Amino acid sequence: MAENKDCEQSTKPEDDPGVCVSEISVYMNNVDGISPVKRKSPRITTKSKFLQKCRFGEMTECFFINKKIILLTLLLLVIVIITWTLLWVFVLRSPNNNALYFAGLFRIADVEFIPEYRRKDSPEFLYMADRVQQVINNVYGKSLFSKLYKQSTISDLSDNNYGGVLVHFWIVFVVPNMKTLFACEDCVSAVLKDSIQTSLVNRTSIGYLLGLPVDMDSIVVNVGLRSDYFATATTDSNSVIAKHAEQSGVPVALNFSTSTGRVNCHFKLTSLLGHIIRLSLTALQIEPDNCVTDSLHIYDSLMPIRSRNLYRACESFGSFPVSFVSTGNGMFLSLKSLRVHGKKEIKGYFEAIPKKKFENTILSMDGMRLEGNITSPYYPSYYPLKCSSTWIFKTSTPFGLALKFQNYTLKEKGFEPCDHGWWKINEKMYCGYQIDYQTVFHIANFLVSITFQCSGKQSSKAFLAEYSSYNISQPCPNGYYVCSTGLCIRQSQRCDGSDDCFDESDEVFCSLPPKVCNTSSPHHHYFSCDGVKDCENGTDELNCTDSVPCTNITYKCKNNVCIQKKNAKCDGTIDCLDGSDEMSCDCGNKIRHGSRIVGGSNAKDGEWPWQVSLHFSGSPYCGASVITKEWLLSAGHCFQGEKMSDPRPWIAHLGMHTQGNAKFKSELKRILVHEYYNGRNFDYDISLLKLKTPWPDRPTATIQPICVPSLAQMVPNGERCWVTGWGQKQERGNSDPTVLQQAEVEIINQSLCRSAYGLITPRMMCAGLLSGKRDACRGDSGGPLSCQEKVGGRWFLTGIVSWGHGCGRPHFPGVYTRVSKFATWIQQHVSALPKTDGVT
Ligand code: ARG
Repeated sequence: MAENKDCEQSTKPEDDPGVCVSEISVYMNNVDGISPVKRKSPRITTKSKFLQKCRFGEMTECFFINKKIILLTLLLLVIVIITWTLLWVFVLRSPNNNALYFAGLFRIADVEFIPEYRRKDSPEFLYMADRVQQVINNVYGKSLFSKLYKQSTISDLSDNNYGGVLVHFWIVFVVPNMKTLFACEDCVSAVLKDSIQTSLVNRTSIGYLLGLPVDMDSIVVNVGLRSDYFATATTDSNSVIAKHAEQSGVPVALNFSTSTGRVNCHFKLTSLLGHIIRLSLTALQIEPDNCVTDSLHIYDSLMPIRSRNLYRACESFGSFPVSFVSTGNGMFLSLKSLRVHGKKEIKGYFEAIPKKKFENTILSMDGMRLEGNITSPYYPSYYPLKCSSTWIFKTSTPFGLALKFQNYTLKEKGFEPCDHGWWKINEKMYCGYQIDYQTVFHIANFLVSITFQCSGKQSSKAFLAEYSSYNISQPCPNGYYVCSTGLCIRQSQRCDGSDDCFDESDEVFCSLPPKVCNTSSPHHHYFSCDGVKDCENGTDELNCTDSVPCTNITYKCKNNVCIQKKNAKCDGTIDCLDGSDEMSCDCGNKIRHGSRIVGGSNAKDGEWPWQVSLHFSGSPYCGASVITKEWLLSAGHCFQGEKMSDPRPWIAHLGMHTQGNAKFKSELKRILVHEYYNGRNFDYDISLLKLKTPWPDRPTATIQPICVPSLAQMVPNGERCWVTGWGQKQERGNSDPTVLQQAEVEIINQSLCRSAYGLITPRMMCAGLLSGKRDACRGDSGGPLSCQEKVGGRWFLTGIVSWGHGCGRPHFPGVYTRVSKFATWIQQHVSALPKTDGVT
């Protein structure tokens, strides 16, 4: 959908002031006219219109004497203009508007590639292109679509690592008098595939397409963009910069930068045979708005073919350099920006690197310990769309093999496809997932065979795993505990209140720690510095602002000093020496008033001033919370799929009580779903939304940000918090309320919740009533779970409505995204959290 919109929006070459785009002349071959015709750009039309204007000026001067004649002339002119406009709108323009562009490629086998094919004006290119065009014309001219088929254009003939010649082409269809066009990619490629005659005796993928030896398996046809067609189906357009890497390992620079005008720039990269391309980016500057205005597409072909999209960058990368590899000896980059102002830049280089086979056999000699690293193919580059790597390990009994991944985990494969690679380990299948912590995968066998296959719609981040042999009967040394993540932690870290395993497997099913109040030994994290006096003598709340080593349960001041006080942020007391804990605290204030929410009641107008209703294509769909003037926080799952992740159909309604009566509305400029969001188990279910228009200072009371908790913030079990939203009032039926609903729920013990649901990750928390009754429901997703801090009284966004089993069912509480876990992630993306107001 987004692609089609782009297509409509893309400007014609003559009205696109893009730096790379210039006058267009296209070699095209019509069905009825076989020889190539050079068509000049529509700029000529612009000139002639200009001339007409000049003559008209002279005429009016000449005939001013007779008023009647002038009037008559004017009338005639008006009629001519109207007729011309109508003619243009309904007759002349319609074929163009209804044009469908398909980009594709196939490999002609048994034809030798000659260097002359690289130059589009060489007689050799023209001869070969003409031959292929005739074949395509014949195929489509005699097909079911013959009436709609307009023309084909050969945009490239290249060598490739499989032999023969790779043909990149465009096919244009014109569907007159149709408002909406249905582009059936499969139908168009089926015509091509069905026309190939293969031998039943000699079973190869090579068949004959009207005499042309074509590799069936190489055929790809995808819907393309009109703007891409105009930019690439040309012989002399300078919007395509072609570069060739002649020598292996020698970098070829790739730089483009501009601050003025729109950009529609393309790079065609080729390398010598038997090699692939490694593209390294050292800088990228584009406007981050989900590719609405700016984008960088990297293709694994020489043309913008959608299914060959290696990577789509809608924003710059977190760090540089980043590199990508192709599967063949060609790559295509497309840098676009619809913004007239602002800098757009790409910097980097590419090089030819030898195509490798990834097969390793690693044996342990005489029972020696195995140790080393395995990496994804072409590490540290993003791994390509297609690749495979195998490793065979042999240890000796009683040793197995442990794989320690940095930001990656393996989970048994279900029915769903694996988006980040699939693994076969001793005949069992696993999917790879990206996460933000370490894991260790144990294989309890002395013979280990591992196959990794690249998978996914895009190139993925590289991974590295440290392998080592381990004692199968004792995976961790004495005095250590084995986490479910496979990590070994010290026994003393078990039940210490800190998630040392990264999946809380060391912190669940812990008995309540004993209170030790009268010794000098440190208090258990469960009691210390949580703002509650657990010991009568108050020792558990002493020295809480002294500097201590930083852990994931300490509060980090801006000067990187850590203190034990858990809820130091915005509690009205300065705890950090630099005062940073009380900065950015203009949040979480609300005027005191005396649900898909189930078991709730009507909220009062302005009672939850951070509550947002997100409308998709005009209908309420999810909730969100205001955290700054221009940023909202919501769930990740509201924005899944190409349609929902496009910011354009969304409108955020702020300061709203009754649906439809928002005090302020804004479109979304950007949707940022957490990069580790996992649609299978709703892990990392969080998103940041940037408003197109920040909300105004007035009305202040009805729109206010809620405070974002710090990493260390602790909300005790049993604490009462509020969930709000316009979601369903009951699990069954369509009972969407119009007035904002609120329900008071209790924070539920993580272990208890885990026993109800099974997989509850550290990024989730549960809230509700064990009796059921009060809960969020469908439509509340993304909305806030607001908790009021005991000290200071500010409201914090403790949770985000995420999922649940039904709604309001006994023993199945609502599951929320634990916002405190994302404090750093939020801070990273939201540069300006509300300024301090000096509130004490
Ligand atoms: N995922 C749901 C939505 O899309 C929210 C479900 C919350 N369910 C619950 N029982 N708390 O709106």
